Amino acid sequence: MARRMSRRRFMVLATNVAGAGITLLIAAPIVGEVLQPIFTRRAHPWVRVGDITQVPVGLPTAYVVQMPTTQAWKVPPVARIVYVVKLNVGSAVQVLPLSNVCTHMQCDVHWDQNLQQFLCPCHGGLYSITGVNVGGPPPRPLFRYRHKLVGETLYVRDQLTEA
Ligand code: FES
Repeated sequence: MARRMSRRRFMVLATNVAGAGITLLIAAPIVGEVLQPIFTRRAHPWVRVGDITQVPVGLPTAYVVQMPTTQAWKVPPVARIVYVVKLNVGSAVQVLPLSNVCTHMQCDVHWDQNLQQFLCPCHGGLYSITGVNVGGPPPRPLFRYRHKLVGETLYVRDQLTEA
């Protein structure tokens, strides 16, 4: 013989089911927002460096660029320095956009006009004008950004290719 559910027990069960449903409705969008970046790849957009008309050949020039982060979660862009180097190659001018982050322990390097090299102040690392590590502890060249020119305006993306 079938047991009948008491009204009280039915009300408790209905309240619990309704509570669970409301909790799911509230939690699902939050959980989705938190987990969604794990399942989506963020594209690396082109980032405008600026007009490089005034950059002299043979003199690395620093530009401050708002660089988007590569992290999956929404993090505001960070200011990075990109050194723009122009070199004469035959009859053409080659443009090299270099990171200023030392490949030893990530200190900021700067162009030293007297040395005619990039100098890292932390441990004396040296890089040539093309970003090649030529002295001190840095194990690799400075990172070179992918780049494109639209007229004289330079854009960079990623930080994937080494000098
Ligand atoms: S951090 Fe640049 S040489 Fe060590």
